[in-house]
Amino acid sequence: MGWLECQIGRLAAGPGSVMLILSYNKKPHKEHYTGFIMLDDSALAFTPEIAAATDPIYQRLKRVVPAIEWPFHAPLVHAINQLKRRRNAVVLAHNYQTPEIFHGVADIVGDSLALARRASETDAEVIVLAGVHFMAETAKLMNPDKIVLMPDTAAGCSLAASITPEDVRQLRRRWPGVPVVAYVNTSAAVKAEVDICCTSGNAVEVVESLGVPRVIFLPDTYLASYVASQSAVEIIDWQGRCEVHERFTAAEIRSFRAGVAGLTVIAHPECPPEVLAAADFVGSTARMVDFIEQRRPPRVLLLTECSMSDNVAAAVPETEFVRPCNLCPHMKRITLAKILQALRSLEPRIEIDPAIAAPARRAVERMLAIKPRS
Ligand code: 13P
Ligand code: SF4
Repeated sequence: MGWLECQIGRLAAGPGSVMLILSYNKKPHKEHYTGFIMLDDSALAFTPEIAAATDPIYQRLKRVVPAIEWPFHAPLVHAINQLKRRRNAVVLAHNYQTPEIFHGVADIVGDSLALARRASETDAEVIVLAGVHFMAETAKLMNPDKIVLMPDTAAGCSLAASITPEDVRQLRRRWPGVPVVAYVNTSAAVKAEVDICCTSGNAVEVVESLGVPRVIFLPDTYLASYVASQSAVEIIDWQGRCEVHERFTAAEIRSFRAGVAGLTVIAHPECPPEVLAAADFVGSTARMVDFIEQRRPPRVLLLTECSMSDNVAAAVPETEFVRPCNLCPHMKRITLAKILQALRSLEPRIEIDPAIAAPARRAVERMLAIKPRS
């Protein structure tokens, strides 16, 4: 598999203004994403005061963020953390966010399940969701009276895009009486059509909680087949796939095992079944973190989104992370500059039609009411 190039550049664009260019380029898939934003702001200079104020954060990040990059991140990190206090805001960040967001400005981090739970508990007036659109919608469903900001509303998800509300209605007509379980990686409009939601962290528990012999499980066909492998409940699936996880292969795992002694392979259940069969452990992003923190394996191949390895590497220095990884182009749309802009303007906000929000919220609340397995 390929390697990752990460470049960060800074160009002077007139007095008091800074242009940040962040680009990732991963071969051989030739993915390319460039986040570009103009910030007209002399307060965003890397002064000795900002260097001192942000140094404790940098100490946590220094294994994964090169020193040459920190002067570009630090003023944004500092400005965001100050503005959060003034706005009574919290930043919720998914495990796939870049380390400067995850460790630099996030108040709550975790997998989709943790973000949904914590979004329902926060007292803050403003929630900034550093993740993708369905996660921000879930936060809004749980907090209809709060301002929920999505720094880039184009941050979507190939799974959420694979299914519409009409598709769910057709499935119900085809399989009358069979309950529908939806992965949270779906739009609020799709959630409004289903009986209950699940995440990769609780999918088996949710399916079994229904006490029925057969369920419709959508939209991820690979997560559906993983659930079927763990449960006696018959699963009717939908042909959605995650564009990031579907690219991992069992051949890659074999080749890495041959080259790296004592390698522990950990895979997300959105990977194809042959990949899960070849892995040592399968779990949601939060379960991957727990596994590594508890077992402290010397060398890990984490078959998931790239930033996840960086974020865990910053917290567990004794584990070496063997790459490859795949970038999620949607997650990478979120940048520090966009988070700062969202906090300043209190835009873009997530709004959900109340006729959709009420049934969609019920599907999420039913999921949250299920007690996690110990
Ligand atoms: P988790 O629920 O494991 O955080 O996964 C969400 C996701 O989008 C994975 O691709
Ligand atoms: Fe969606 Fe896959 Fe990106 Fe997760 S990694 S947000 S499932 S496209």
